[in-house]
Amino acid sequence: MIKKYLAFIMTAALSLSMVGCAGSFLTSDESSEQETTEYNESDPAGSLSDAAKNHADDGKDIIGISMPAIHLPRWNWDGALLKTKFEERGYTVNLKFADNTIDKQQTDIHELINEGVDILLIAAVKGDALAGVLEEAKAADIPVIAYDRIIESDSVKYYVSFDNDMVGALQGEYIRDKLDLDHASHRTFNIEIVSGDSNDKNADGYYNGAMKILKPYLDSGVLKVLSGEVGYHETETFQWSTDRAEERMTGIITSYYPRGVKLDAVLCANDTAALGVARAIKKNYAGNNKVLLTGQDGDVENLKNIMDGLQSQTSYKCLPNETKVMVDVTTAFMNKDPIDEKLIEKYDWDFEVVYADDRYSNGTDYMKSFLLTPLSITRDNLISELVDKGYYRQKSDGTFKMILKNE
Ligand code: BGC
Repeated sequence: MIKKYLAFIMTAALSLSMVGCAGSFLTSDESSEQETTEYNESDPAGSLSDAAKNHADDGKDIIGISMPAIHLPRWNWDGALLKTKFEERGYTVNLKFADNTIDKQQTDIHELINEGVDILLIAAVKGDALAGVLEEAKAADIPVIAYDRIIESDSVKYYVSFDNDMVGALQGEYIRDKLDLDHASHRTFNIEIVSGDSNDKNADGYYNGAMKILKPYLDSGVLKVLSGEVGYHETETFQWSTDRAEERMTGIITSYYPRGVKLDAVLCANDTAALGVARAIKKNYAGNNKVLLTGQDGDVENLKNIMDGLQSQTSYKCLPNETKVMVDVTTAFMNKDPIDEKLIEKYDWDFEVVYADDRYSNGTDYMKSFLLTPLSITRDNLISELVDKGYYRQKSDGTFKMILKNE
């Protein structure tokens, strides 16, 4: 059953909840990284430390957080926001970043368990690679909540994220409407596709969400992909890397879009990849038109690119709201409250959140999911939605800064 609670997105009250949030962008030294012990895949539930066995009996509850990578802007902010908000609620936080590698994340989670955390919050590098170490969590009786990215393991019953399909749909709708595909008559348009990292189950949702909108136009021939690369895997960007996206798009432009051949749009899954695509277009594309380019997140460099006309759209995901939902759901869990749609009113989420228990699966069962609604940002509404509402500050040189505290 899906219940939809509509409220006012980004109201003044919401801005107030961000004020007083004292986090800031983290450097590697500031995350609570500790000495590394190896995770043993062949003995995942093996010898647990005393701390792991006694994880809940040392006074303050410890929130263990495993994030994918400190150098990808959004996870850095997520880490900073979660740490601050949990500490404000009186929890101790043990936060680790995994360098975008599966091995490091398994080791991180193993360490968090041994360091005695009471609950694990994980944004997975690869959603189906954690089954072993999550068995270890189960053996130590440590619950797990999936943050933003789907985890495929029956140990994971709860999921806090954005509506992944909608993120892609907003990108597809932007391209459809900007090119006015429904009134193309005999005209055709050239588009290229840059998907996310298929290790991340969310990337699938973004691709499918966008394709639901754009496929009819690809099928009818209104949209053409001159590179011929349309499928999810052939268009993917390993690790959502800016450099890899730039390299692939450079190859495509030089091979298929010489002077005189117009590239109308690039459907690009997120902002880190969009930075690379924008660079490739700037350096290699000879046409005079502005190539439509989508993204996701609202990373500060991309906001600047949107204002400068180098990117056209981003499906903005409000991290202050997503982290708030995560902190509230975790608090409810720690207080042994029921985890269901009632939390939306209980915690007074004055932004759009959907509770769903039939949308996102852990591979065995549907997870109880809280799904926030992304917002399509373009040059037309960037200032009014993101700056005027207090999420970012625009500096005098035109660059943006995310506001994490009253500064
Ligand atoms: C997140 C996106 C992010 C991407 C790369 C996805 O799982 O949902 O917000 O852009 O990972 O970090």
